[in-house]
Amino acid sequence: MDRESMSNEENYCFDVGGYLIVRGALKRKEIEACNEALDQAGQIDGMLGWPAPLREPFRDLLIHPVLVWYLNQICGYGFRLEEEPQLIGEVAGNVGVPLVGGNEPRDPARTYYHQNDRRECQGVRAIWALADVNEGDGGFVMVHCSHKSNVETPQDVLTGEDDMGLTVQPVLQAGDLLLVADTVLQGMQPWKGKGRQRLLSYEYAARGVIRAKGTGPKVQEDPSADELTPEERAVLYKPGYESTTPPPTVGSDGERTWLEDRSKIIHPSIYIKDPNSNIDEKEFYFWDLSGYLVVPNVMTPEDLELANEAIDRFEDRIVVGGELSGGSKSLVGTGRPTLGGLINLPKPYCEPFRRMVAHPAVVHRLNWMGASGFRCGGPTAFCAVKGTSGHSLHDANEPLNASRGYVFQNGRSYCEAITVTWQLRDVNEDDGGFACVPGSHKAQYRLPQGVRSCDDHMGLVVHPVMKAGDVLFFMDGAQTHGALAWTNDIPRRGMLIKYSSRNFNRSGGEMVQPENRWGNLIDGMTDAQLAVMRGPDRDAHHGNVPRLIVEDGKVNASYERTRALYSRETPTEPLAKESR
Ligand SMILES: [Fe+2]
Repeated sequence: MDRESMSNEENYCFDVGGYLIVRGALKRKEIEACNEALDQAGQIDGMLGWPAPLREPFRDLLIHPVLVWYLNQICGYGFRLEEEPQLIGEVAGNVGVPLVGGNEPRDPARTYYHQNDRRECQGVRAIWALADVNEGDGGFVMVHCSHKSNVETPQDVLTGEDDMGLTVQPVLQAGDLLLVADTVLQGMQPWKGKGRQRLLSYEYAARGVIRAKGTGPKVQEDPSADELTPEERAVLYKPGYESTTPPPTVGSDGERTWLEDRSKIIHPSIYIKDPNSNIDEKEFYFWDLSGYLVVPNVMTPEDLELANEAIDRFEDRIVVGGELSGGSKSLVGTGRPTLGGLINLPKPYCEPFRRMVAHPAVVHRLNWMGASGFRCGGPTAFCAVKGTSGHSLHDANEPLNASRGYVFQNGRSYCEAITVTWQLRDVNEDDGGFACVPGSHKAQYRLPQGVRSCDDHMGLVVHPVMKAGDVLFFMDGAQTHGALAWTNDIPRRGMLIKYSSRNFNRSGGEMVQPENRWGNLIDGMTDAQLAVMRGPDRDAHHGNVPRLIVEDGKVNASYERTRALYSRETPTEPLAKESR
């Protein structure tokens, strides 16, 4: 490889999605060598030990330069083979069993670590495609971003009984290399492809990981000393042997110790799940995993009809705003039409919109998503017509934006800005409208330009399909989101309500002004002093104005703006009366 490190796109994809597809990693000759050896041997595993020359193509893959280059960066230098290669799928009989993986409870020997731009993924599965896998072929499936899930995987998602639309089957060409974080939920579905299924899986682990035992004769030896008590022997165990894999479990009540069945792991928590929380656990899982949630069928047919009638009746008040594709080729189009002031329409037309703002289905969920005390400015109708531009994707967890971010801690969702969108019309697969990057609310790398524009989205962008009457919640500010260009002859009817948490201001207001907040106290203050006497205002990353700058030991107020959004109350020039 002639690059020093993975591109931001590659880092972003593995960080957000938990996987990376390296296209065309194998040359035709290499693919043929593997396939011919497999045909000749007629076996699905043990290939590293097959008689020469049959084993050679698989020993080559074990340390293939493309693989080594990526694993050095993803797993860390010194990574090692954890499990021998094998063909997976129908031939291995591992089809249709529940998915494995997920990040709750955490398994430190498998999980994904990331801090300060450094990553160590403790387990990575490398799957070599030795034949094409087309859309709908079945075979290997995974749940994107589940390597960072904070919530236990619901049983229905594991079994596929109700996968909540989360399982994805990657499309591969012969020669592609799929790298998957070990804690990504994954499994095998029945093969429906026309061609043969040839997926060869190698399991790697970081240098220090202890998991499976080896297969050599020494593994069967017992290295423990005899003269100790069983509990003492258990604590002095040496890893890597049959007798110590999994390791012994020693129980204790604080008074005495005893040996438990070694398949049991003791790791108590000081918390227990709250059966009275009134949270739907599947919804919480989906929310934490994806950064959005669609709740079906919330509106009554009467409200749906009246709300649609209201938009029809006041259509002439629709204002066409700016074109928002941001230079994207795929999102380009005309300006975005919106209709505001819906809660102030004459009766009865305002009524369905007034019922939206504090609807029980919304309040109930906002309370667990970000705590009570939230507020909003009422709904705005997004009425894109055929040809209306998309809105290039924006916002993310990186860079950090505390006032609109997402944190999960001790069983709680702390989301500081949530937008709720009521659908007055169906949104079909190809219509356009809301789109987002599931998992981006936990991203540690910057949003790549190709994902922002959707021109090269790497399969990370999702466009949820919805029905009239459904309600969408999304992490506005934490999650990367935007809209696809509208393509349906029937215009979009999404009613957006932006909720802010009790903890942060997002929109200025008169109490931002120093004199409104402090009265006479500020009389005669300098600009630098006034800069710190303002009330809470919108947090515009580092570009907040006015802000204090120290130069040559002197403190000055800066009013220089960046490209961020500011409230109307944000000044652009000095405020102090004497300096005007
Ligand atoms: Fe937005």
